[in-house]
Amino acid sequence: MKRHIPILAKEINEQIPDHAQIIVDGTLGHGGHTDYFITHATQKNRTYIGVDVDPQILEQAKNYLSEHQNIHFINNSYAQLSEELAKRAIPSVDYILLDLGINREHVLNADRGFSIRKDGPLDMRFAPDKQTAYELIQTCTEQDLTDRLIRYGDFKPHVAKGYAQYIKKNKADPRVRTTLGLRELMREIRVNDRQLAVIFQVLRIVVNKELEQVEIFCQKLANILATWGRCAIITFHSVEDRLVKYLFKDLAATEQFQLVNKKVIKPHYTEVQRNKASRSAKLRIIEKL
Ligand SMILES: C[S@@+](CC[C@H](N)C(=O)[O-])C[C@H]1O[C@@H](n2cnc3c(N)ncnc32)[C@H](O)[C@@H]1O
Repeated sequence: MKRHIPILAKEINEQIPDHAQIIVDGTLGHGGHTDYFITHATQKNRTYIGVDVDPQILEQAKNYLSEHQNIHFINNSYAQLSEELAKRAIPSVDYILLDLGINREHVLNADRGFSIRKDGPLDMRFAPDKQTAYELIQTCTEQDLTDRLIRYGDFKPHVAKGYAQYIKKNKADPRVRTTLGLRELMREIRVNDRQLAVIFQVLRIVVNKELEQVEIFCQKLANILATWGRCAIITFHSVEDRLVKYLFKDLAATEQFQLVNKKVIKPHYTEVQRNKASRSAKLRIIEKL
């Protein structure tokens, strides 16, 4: 198992207000950001809350962070954060980080079915209560799949329609059950690995309702953040970044919030050299007034 490398950790840590007492890592992963926050904290008596919807990843985080005492772990979606805080009688928090997307472990572990290069079941679920990518292909309509490929994959409508038609036409082909099987099938209509990676990303977004989670979270943000509390979100592709940009803009328009950075923060080229996975990261931060 290889530990996920936290992205923009220094930049995100610098945005934690000095007065912050309760800090939430809403996408804990392997806990790299939380580790960095604790190690570089300006205040020693802070409480940390680590949330991950994926029970396997959360267990790994507990091991990685075992030397720290002041972390509460929650296995749920960050979209349910307000309900989880209410259960613990925590009225509000001072800083929340969402580092969207997948963990290194999701790609490296073939059994999770996220990788286009490792043979595994076509799964892609973060949490076991969702339907798998294979089940999604069986149950969704061709039109729905086309729409998602256009919306989440930025494919041209005729290209998306062609892909959706071919996938649905072959949904009973046993190859659809596995990652490399689907890759082989799509190669028959000359889908290359770059295009396939985007198709996989679209399936993953739909399976895990990823964009809906961000929307629900932002709707509840005013009730979760304390005054002068901040929320930082890292995105990794244009669809996610556009969504966060507009959701933050809408929040700032209510005058309950202000944008901390009008221009997105991106990793320094030395970070990109060290960690290629950081190359498409974009950071946006908002503050509650
Ligand atoms: C990019 S990784 C986070 C890596 C982490 N910052 C680190 O340094 O190790 C994203 C994590 O978010 C989790 N995740 C995805 N959707 C989530 C959701 N709706 N609620 C909570 N966690 C989620 C994934 O399971 C994954 O572990």
